[in-house]
Amino acid sequence: MTRVIAHPNIALIKYWGKADGPGNIPATPSLSITLDTLCTTTTVEDAPRDEIRLNGQVTTDAKVAKFLDQLRREFQVPPLSIESTNNFPTGAGLASSASGFAALITAIDAHCGLNMDATRRSQWARRGSGSAARSVFGGFVSLQPPDWAAQPLRPASDWPLTVVIAITDTERKTVSSSHGMERSRLTSPYYPAWIDSTQAAWREGRNAVEQRDFNALAAIAEHSTLAMHALMISSRPPLLYWNPASLAVIHTIRGLREAGVPVFFTIDAGPQVKAVCLPEVADSVASSLRSLPGVVTVMNVGLGPGASVVDA
Ligand code: PMV
Repeated sequence: MTRVIAHPNIALIKYWGKADGPGNIPATPSLSITLDTLCTTTTVEDAPRDEIRLNGQVTTDAKVAKFLDQLRREFQVPPLSIESTNNFPTGAGLASSASGFAALITAIDAHCGLNMDATRRSQWARRGSGSAARSVFGGFVSLQPPDWAAQPLRPASDWPLTVVIAITDTERKTVSSSHGMERSRLTSPYYPAWIDSTQAAWREGRNAVEQRDFNALAAIAEHSTLAMHALMISSRPPLLYWNPASLAVIHTIRGLREAGVPVFFTIDAGPQVKAVCLPEVADSVASSLRSLPGVVTVMNVGLGPGASVVDA
């Protein structure tokens, strides 16, 4: 039996769209922070046949089945019982697939002795879910060409930011990221502009992280989020992930920053808003968001480590 813990990551420079060809390669580079507190715990054991359990329920997850098929084309992997549990809502825009696939490949690698280094694990995690490549590493992480493995930029301890997560809906999203991205690529008139502009945004984000320049990171991260959502909204049929509470949280965060509070927002394929801030203002940011109508829960989480084996 092998047990692994991995944490979700939140992109500050987003990816939305895949390159042509195999390998689940993103069309653009991205940059993220790995969280602590929220986690996926995955246990693998030898079994007579594959059995996958997610949050206690037996499931036939097509993405996991495809991932195992691909892995078995290159490695000897026996039938496995895989049990994966998230301590946060699954499939609701909180990056459960990122922590899920980073945990899965790390657990299978350790359990079956595949001898992968972190770069290889990151490339394999990417095949399961693009953003999962980044959850193999902790702190500030970049995912870029040519090898499309994630790279750690800075450990969490170097620049300890806090992420205040405002949950505005705990339901599973109705359109998966993969389908949504494909829809944007095929139907949004803004897709070519998104692809062109994301290269520069990623360089700007990397520079801001290298220099620990909070205001520069805030400006480019909010721009990346809004550009991605403009792309989503301009797809046909539209992908409108926000609810009224998401918008109320955005406006509150913008107001706080205009008043000098070091905080910015980021939003993924779901209605939750993540407020990234310096730790000293996290409690006051959390209480401003908690009082907004439609905000169900607010959680403060720090930056955390990469995927690791906790029991073998
Ligand atoms: O990991 P995927 O392929 O489900 O896509 C994740 C997409 C976003 O979370 C919206 C952006 C990102 O870069 O993580």
